[in-house]
Amino acid sequence: MCGIVGAIAQRPVAAILLEGLRRLEYRGYDSAGIAVLDPSGQLSRVRTLGKVSRLVEEVAANPLAGTLGIAHTRWATHGEPATHNAHPHVSHDRCAIVHNGIVENHEELRREQIAAGHRFTSETDTEVVVHAIYDELARGASLIDAVRQAATRLRGAYALGVIDSEDPGHLVAARQGSPLVIGVGFGEHFIASDVFALLPVTNRFIFLEEGDIAELTLESVRIWDRDGQAVERPIKTSSVSADATERGEYRHYMLKEIFEQPRAIADTLDGRLAGNRILPESFGNQASELFASIEAVTIVACGTSFHAALVARYWMEAIAGIPCQVEVASEYRYRSHVVAKNALFVTISQSGETADSLAALRQAKASGYQTTLAICNVPESSLVRESDLVFLTHAGPEIGVASTKAFTTQLIALFLLTITLGRFKRLEASDEARLVELLRSVPAKIEEVLALDSSIAALAEQFVDKQHTLFLGRGEQYPIAMEGALKLKEISYIHAEAYPAGELKHGPLALIDEQMPVVAVAPNNALLEKLKSNLEEVRARGGQLYVFADFQVPLDEGEGVTVIRLPETDDLIDPIVFTIPLQLLAYHVAVLKGTDVDQPRNLAKSVTVE
Ligand code: F6R
Repeated sequence: MCGIVGAIAQRPVAAILLEGLRRLEYRGYDSAGIAVLDPSGQLSRVRTLGKVSRLVEEVAANPLAGTLGIAHTRWATHGEPATHNAHPHVSHDRCAIVHNGIVENHEELRREQIAAGHRFTSETDTEVVVHAIYDELARGASLIDAVRQAATRLRGAYALGVIDSEDPGHLVAARQGSPLVIGVGFGEHFIASDVFALLPVTNRFIFLEEGDIAELTLESVRIWDRDGQAVERPIKTSSVSADATERGEYRHYMLKEIFEQPRAIADTLDGRLAGNRILPESFGNQASELFASIEAVTIVACGTSFHAALVARYWMEAIAGIPCQVEVASEYRYRSHVVAKNALFVTISQSGETADSLAALRQAKASGYQTTLAICNVPESSLVRESDLVFLTHAGPEIGVASTKAFTTQLIALFLLTITLGRFKRLEASDEARLVELLRSVPAKIEEVLALDSSIAALAEQFVDKQHTLFLGRGEQYPIAMEGALKLKEISYIHAEAYPAGELKHGPLALIDEQMPVVAVAPNNALLEKLKSNLEEVRARGGQLYVFADFQVPLDEGEGVTVIRLPETDDLIDPIVFTIPLQLLAYHVAVLKGTDVDQPRNLAKSVTVE
């Protein structure tokens, strides 16, 4: 993970780099640092433990002048969060680097470099890279050749930004396995882990490919591919505005993003429907042709995106009649598979950079799937570039570490996919028309649920002093219960588990006492009576029940039972609608507990390491 940014300009770059770091902080925030080449030709470096705001304060107290620089916000992998482990790392006061990724052979390189006389000042895997580059520079190599040579010795993943105090006219960048973009300005150039970091200074970007090395000057960008061939990469103009990543009047990004869901879903549907039909081209130009023969679907993802996949399994089998298997990417990538005939491999990812999902996709491509499809929120991401077909969710930038609008737009994408595939199986045009109508009703239904915000905030008070919470659901509401539990644990640090309600009596019922809140998602569907029996089992043992139910559900409030009424919807879209109150509940509990809602401890938004 980690975020990197760099700049070569005719104006001072420190403020640009610090703003870039602020925008990349979702990638990691345990320490941060900046190095610029000052007007006397010396490297000036400032590093702080904690968030970027600490670094900003430190730089305000000790301003940095210079028109060439690099900066980094860290999510620790090798070496604890500490100032001496923060980037940039420097060798012999001459060259400095920022690195995102993991150098797998760092121990071996470190041993060699210590034997050769290098003195290490950190426990990071990164420091070997800067010493390797220094060795090449000391032998007389140019900066670009030094990075190229050093890179041949590295195993693992990296996005690098490198500067040399003896070469003030160049900034060098390299990409292998971690994302990196070049921002193209007028008489100035930049690098960053994503485009959002650079939106205040440019909207023109070059996306480096795996193995690329680039040399940036004030006026030029030169790129070489993994074989050392000079290559031209296209400049793309981003339509995202710099404001899209601002928090506006909301107290937290997460709250803003929860409230953006009706718009995000409408945007995700926009242009994908023609009357009452879905346009298959929404998945790519060849989707119609490729989907026609699909007989099985495998979906792989991590975390919240995995929960979206679990919901899709119910839809895929119930609506489209297509066998569907779902697995977390970190497990999928390390086991052998039997690939069904004519199978579609789907990855789901907000960021499109999750290392496990990317590795799973690469493995799937080598193992005989008919086609690969990425459902993703970031158009320029690695997952999008490497998949045959792509469906872009139009949620807009998601900054809060806890995923909200990305999840519900993923569900929309998966519903569209189910219908599009179902068309080749058993869905008639009239079925499709009815399902499309349902989809169009989702934004308005979510608006109705958002109107319950203040009553859910009041409910949150009953969770603040709890240590544990159970979430229950049945059928396609089980993954929604899992998502509710994940949201609560990651931002409020309350231990939360989800169970399919029928599973309670096989063990978890032993946990129930007066101290255990149990949250249930209970729309009026075919499993309601079964779920009510399960809730009775909880009530009879003194558990405190909080039930999200629609108005049709015959359920009375009473001792130990609180019912929160949601608008009635069709069973098929219930999972989308019932997600919203669970997001709000987790949010308000976290606010009451005073945790760092947008940047919870130990986490990062984009998990680009294993
Ligand atoms: C939880 C959360 C994570 C991500 C997971 C996958 O709120 O956001 O569980 O869902 O790290 O990330 P993406 O979707 O970017 O692949």
